[in-house]
Amino acid sequence: MRLALLGSLCASTVASAAAQRRYAILDNDWSSTAFAVFLMALDGGIDVLALTDCTGDTWQHQETLHALATLELGNLSCIPVVPGATWPLLQTPERLQAWESIYGPLVWQGAFAAPNYTAEAQGADPTGGDPNRIVPAAFVEGLPATKPMNTTNAANFMVEMVRKYPGQVSIYAAGPLTNVALAVRMDPDFAENAKELVIMGGYVDVELLQATGSLLMANINSDINLIMDPEAASIALTAPFPNITIAGNVANQVISTQAFLDQVIQVNNSYSNLMYKYYGTEFPFWDETAMALLVDPSINTNSTNVFVAVDTAYGSPSYGNIHVYQKALAPPNTRSVQYVFEVDGGKLQDMIMHAVQYPPQVC
Ligand SMILES: *[C@@H]1O[C@H](CO)[C@@H](O)[C@H](O)[C@H]1NC(C)=O
Ligand SMILES: *[C@@H]1O[C@H](CO)[C@@H](O)[C@H](O)[C@H]1NC(C)=O
Ligand SMILES: *[C@@H]1O[C@H](CO)[C@@H](O)[C@H](O)[C@H]1NC(C)=O
Ligand SMILES: *[C@@H]1O[C@H](CO)[C@@H](O)[C@H](O)[C@H]1NC(C)=O
Ligand SMILES: *[C@@H]1O[C@H](CO)[C@@H](O)[C@H](O)[C@H]1NC(C)=O
Ligand SMILES: *[C@@H]1O[C@H](CO)[C@@H](O)[C@H](O)[C@H]1NC(C)=O
Repeated sequence: MRLALLGSLCASTVASAAAQRRYAILDNDWSSTAFAVFLMALDGGIDVLALTDCTGDTWQHQETLHALATLELGNLSCIPVVPGATWPLLQTPERLQAWESIYGPLVWQGAFAAPNYTAEAQGADPTGGDPNRIVPAAFVEGLPATKPMNTTNAANFMVEMVRKYPGQVSIYAAGPLTNVALAVRMDPDFAENAKELVIMGGYVDVELLQATGSLLMANINSDINLIMDPEAASIALTAPFPNITIAGNVANQVISTQAFLDQVIQVNNSYSNLMYKYYGTEFPFWDETAMALLVDPSINTNSTNVFVAVDTAYGSPSYGNIHVYQKALAPPNTRSVQYVFEVDGGKLQDMIMHAVQYPPQVC
């Protein structure tokens, strides 16, 4: 039907339809249960150019296999997985732990936690130790049969896709911003020619929650995505993207519940089955909130524009945290970003639910 119609459309209509296509590159620390993010993008009609990865909650090589395996579950392997940075720009486990010995421990240190081989044998993703090792027990979704793209890397792929589709590629980053920073530094036109940057992370004014809440509350209000690579976060958040949207505090607004999981499994497919069994009810829909803002900005019900800087002073208790400013008081070389306070929580859950229950067939 679409092909038949195409013949009758004039060339300029075809060109403008192509110009209106929305593309995205989804950068994340992929896991067994992170798939709702790419399903939501596809469900929103976005052309997902690739999943890219960088060390965050676990090591990057392990994430590559999670990305491949979770795409396979939905016959979505035509979407390439492009490996990203294994190491942040400067941060290392030793460096983070030395910082913690002075400024206090984090509840969650992601890939930089000391290795726990007992936990790995029971299905935890690897932390610490050899960054190149793969822990098969963590693949509750099954190990992948497909392979990552091996002719390029995440930062280079981002640069090339933005050159190919100027003004049309959204960069989504729900892990540390290492790959985004590398792309920004590699090509001075990259950020300006992208459509936007949407990130998960960037908490403000949450110190009292960390002090007076439970350890879980402290954990979900600590900014591990930025802390794992503060220098990259600073580069990415000061780059001239036409728009930067920050899903920080708002990413904690809607928390997974048993009622949600009970509803999602009403349509039982390989994704809803995994979500039902393994997503849990402890954590908020962090990455999904950031993706919902990318797919449908109307979900944003309260936001403001502020200038933002990342603390990159290693000898600082807020190393890797953001600070926000009004224009008149902002440090040089900072820029305005859209800081979201609140989303339509019902709509967010509907978007996740629909994408997981009816995974789009695009391959
Ligand atoms: C993927 O393809 C297989 C084989 O064609 C099919 O059985 C399965 O239902 C498909 N899965 C999804 C999620 O569409
Ligand atoms: C390692 O993991 C095991 C199993 O999850 C847990 O019982 C133990 O407390 C962990 N050890 C450390 C030092 O965190
Ligand atoms: C790259 O991937 C292709 C296709 O999977 C494979 O044939 C080739 O051996 C790979 N090359 C390297 C250097 O890993
Ligand atoms: C996006 O960027 C454009 C150009 O800088 C600006 O005019 C617009 O207000 C921004 N939109 C949002 C939602 O921040
Ligand atoms: C969903 O389907 C899977 C595979 O057929 C099955 O193992 C699982 O028990 C089902 N889940 C529920 C809650 O019915
Ligand atoms: C938007 O959020 C801010 C920060 O939480 C709050 O101070 C303000 O009252 C909110 N505005 C509306 C209209 O809800």
